[in-house]
Amino acid sequence: MPTGALPVRSLSPAHAAELRTAAESLLHRFPGSPADPKLLAELPSAAAALSDGVRHACRPVDTPDGLFVLTGLEVDDAALGPTPGHWSTAGDAGAVYDVVLLLLSALMGVPLAWEGQQEGRFVHNIVPTPGHEEEQTGASSSVLLSPHTEDAFHPGRAHLLLLACLRNPDAVATTAASIRQVRLGDADMALLGRPELPILPDDAYAEARAYAGHPQPVPTVWQSPDGPTLRFDPAYTPLERAGKEHRAAYARLTDELSRVSVAVRLEPGQVLVVDNDLVVHGRVPFKARYDGTDRWLKRSSVRVPGRRTRPAAERFEHGYGQKVLEAYA
Ligand SMILES: [Fe+2]
Repeated sequence: MPTGALPVRSLSPAHAAELRTAAESLLHRFPGSPADPKLLAELPSAAAALSDGVRHACRPVDTPDGLFVLTGLEVDDAALGPTPGHWSTAGDAGAVYDVVLLLLSALMGVPLAWEGQQEGRFVHNIVPTPGHEEEQTGASSSVLLSPHTEDAFHPGRAHLLLLACLRNPDAVATTAASIRQVRLGDADMALLGRPELPILPDDAYAEARAYAGHPQPVPTVWQSPDGPTLRFDPAYTPLERAGKEHRAAYARLTDELSRVSVAVRLEPGQVLVVDNDLVVHGRVPFKARYDGTDRWLKRSSVRVPGRRTRPAAERFEHGYGQKVLEAYA
C-alpha cells in the first residue's frame, strides 16, 4: 500500500466516472479554459448535483493526521501529453483534472487563488522547472522542500490544500506532519504562541516580496477552539531575530514535526487533501528528468467558511499587499 497507514478514502469507479463526466460537461459548455470565470461561477451548482457518495468522500478531515488521500480517479497517461517544463507553458494541459479538482474543492469549501501567483489561476501546475532546482517552491527538485504551511505569510491562506497527482514515475514523496501529533510542553506552546517573528512571502510571489510595508510578527502555534493549530514556514522566517529561548522552542517544534512526519508517495489519480491549519507539508529531493515524463501535480486551495482556527488579530495583517481571489461569490 503506497500510502502506508494514512487515512484513505476511495471513490468507486462509478463516482470517479461521475466526476469526470461533470468536469467534461463544464468544459464542453465553457470551452475556453478551466480558468474561465463563467465556468468557475457554475461550480457550486455542478458540485451540488454530485451524488452523496462523492460528497461523503469530501467530508472534513476527521483524524489527527490532518489529511486524507482520495483514491480512485483515473488518469489516462497517454492522453495527457508531456509534463510541461514550467507552469506558464502548461496552458490547459490536463484541463479535465483541473475541473475535477475544482469540483472536489467546491464540495469542501470555496476555491481560492492569488492575484500574484500563476496568473491568478485556481488550479496550479506543480512541475520541476529548469533553473529553479534549489528554490523553496513547488518548481524545485534537487533540494528538500522544507515542511511548511501553504502561503503561511498571508492571513487569507487556504484552510485546505489539495494535491492531485497526474504523474509521479519515481514515486517522489510528499511529506506531511500534523501539529495534533506532536508532543510539545506548555512552556513551548506559550512561547511559540507569542507573535515574535514574521513569515515573509515565498519566492512564488515576486510582487509580495517587494512589498514596502513592515513585516508583521505572527504566532507559530496556538490553541484554537478546534485544537492546536500552526502557521509555520522556517525557510521564510527570520529566526535569527528571535531570542534564544524562542529559537530553542522553535527548534523543538521543528524536531517534533520531523518525528511525526509521514511520506506520501502519490500515484496518478490520487488526491492528497491536507488541512493547512494542522499539517505542514514538504517534498523530498529528487532528480528532475526534463524529458516530458516528470512528476506533475495539480494543486488547489480551499477556504472553508465558518472555520474557527485563526486568531482574530490576523484580520489586521497587510498580507504583503497580496490579494486572495475566490472562485465565486
Ligand atoms: Fe507548499
